[in-house]
Amino acid sequence: MHIILLGAPGAGKGTLAKMIAGKFGVPHLSTGDILRDNVNKKTYVGNQAKEYMDNGKLVPDDIMIQMVKGRVLEEDCKTGFILDGFPRTIRQAEALKLIFDELDITIDAIFNLEASQETIIERLSGRRTCKNCGAIYHIKNIPSEVEGKCDKCGNMLYQRDDDKKDVVKKRLMVYKTQTKKLISYYEKQDSFCEIDANKKVDEMFVEACKDLGKACKSG
Ligand code: AP5
Repeated sequence: MHIILLGAPGAGKGTLAKMIAGKFGVPHLSTGDILRDNVNKKTYVGNQAKEYMDNGKLVPDDIMIQMVKGRVLEEDCKTGFILDGFPRTIRQAEALKLIFDELDITIDAIFNLEASQETIIERLSGRRTCKNCGAIYHIKNIPSEVEGKCDKCGNMLYQRDDDKKDVVKKRLMVYKTQTKKLISYYEKQDSFCEIDANKKVDEMFVEACKDLGKACKSG
């Protein structure tokens, strides 16, 4: 199973990707998570990416393409993967096509998550993430059982640095000017599906499963 998730920051890509990954047993490849991990570990890539991320800008295409190329060749991606946050530019999409052609991969679904501006702002301002396992919560919509602690591993939840108001504004602008054009790049493909991301998480998941030709409930 090979899936690409498109959508604005905060639309719910990570949340939906984790549900699909859990249900169908394929890895969730979030370029944002991979970059944050590199930043925390102060790797060469992390040091290069940090300033871009802190300012809500896109990390240069060459770095991203190399990173994704390497990741999809790993053993756990043999049966498929869900790409969340890549591609984000036409150049990345073209590079991804070459990778897929080379590996003889067919895309099962390209989900475009559409959410209103109000929904996005509300979701990003209330997001909390587990430092340890990456589980995603929301202080109102999807709260953890114990405030500030992850239900899955008990570790601390934190607010991402780039969820601060001024950085969110920049990320949304970058989405509008650089990433949104991917919709017209992909929309003529048979595997392209619109998902109404204003809906509740479970409804979004059922809609995605239906598009994959699989009926399923969350969990
Ligand atoms: P990245 O981490 O990919 O951030 P993003 O695309 O801005 O997306 P988010 O993670 O903010 O949102 P999401 O859509 O995953 O929403 P989530 O599920 O968390 O990238 C970060 C940075 O890395 C970029 O700015 C850039 O610098 C760099 N980068 C990454 N990839 C790159 C690339 N390819 N090229 C260049 N640079 C790159 O949900 C949000 C909140 O809403 C959560 O609190 C969640 O609980 C809640 N929620 C979700 N769905 C629902 C729902 N249906 N109902 C109610 N609440 C919901």
